[in-house]
Amino acid sequence: MAKLHISTKINGEPTEFLCDPNDSMLDVLRGPLALTGSKEGCGSGDCGACSVMLDGRLVCSCLMLAAEAEGHEIETIEGMAEGEKLHPLQQKFLEMAALQCGICTPGVLVASKALLEKNQNPTETEVRYWLAGNLCRCTGYDKIVRAVLDTAAEMREATR
Ligand code: FES
Ligand code: FES
Repeated sequence: MAKLHISTKINGEPTEFLCDPNDSMLDVLRGPLALTGSKEGCGSGDCGACSVMLDGRLVCSCLMLAAEAEGHEIETIEGMAEGEKLHPLQQKFLEMAALQCGICTPGVLVASKALLEKNQNPTETEVRYWLAGNLCRCTGYDKIVRAVLDTAAEMREATR
C-alpha cells in the first residue's frame, strides 16, 4: 500500500511522517514518532488514555486517522511541561498522588488542561463530567478531581 506523506505540527514543532491510510494518529505517535506518552487503553474511543489536542480541541487519537493531521496542529502530553518545568497540573498530580499505574494519567492531564483553559473555576461536578470519558482503574477518581480543583485554585491565585 502506498504510504502517505503528512506534514503537521506536533507540540509546536513542524513534523513530517509517512503512514498507511488506515493508521491511527495514536499508532503514528507511539510508533514512528516515538511519542509514547499517549497510551492505548482500548483503541475504540472509550477510555481517554490516548487523548490529545487537535487544533485546540480534545480528541481521542485512537479514533483519528494519522492522515487527518495534515495541515493541523497536535499537542500531546510530551508538550505539556516547559522543558524541566512541569505544568501546574502535572506538579499537583505528583504532590497529591493522583495517579497509581499511570496509564490513564497522560490522557487525564491533557483533558484537565483543556478544561482549565475553557473554565478557570470549574465546580467538582464540572470536573467529574468533563473527565467522564477518561477511565481510571486505580485511583477511584477522587484524588484526580481534587488535584484538578486545587490546580485551578492555584492558577487563579497566581493570575490575581
Ligand atoms: S485508547 Fe483511545 S479512547 Fe481508549
Ligand atoms: S492510575 Fe491506573 S488507570 Fe488511572
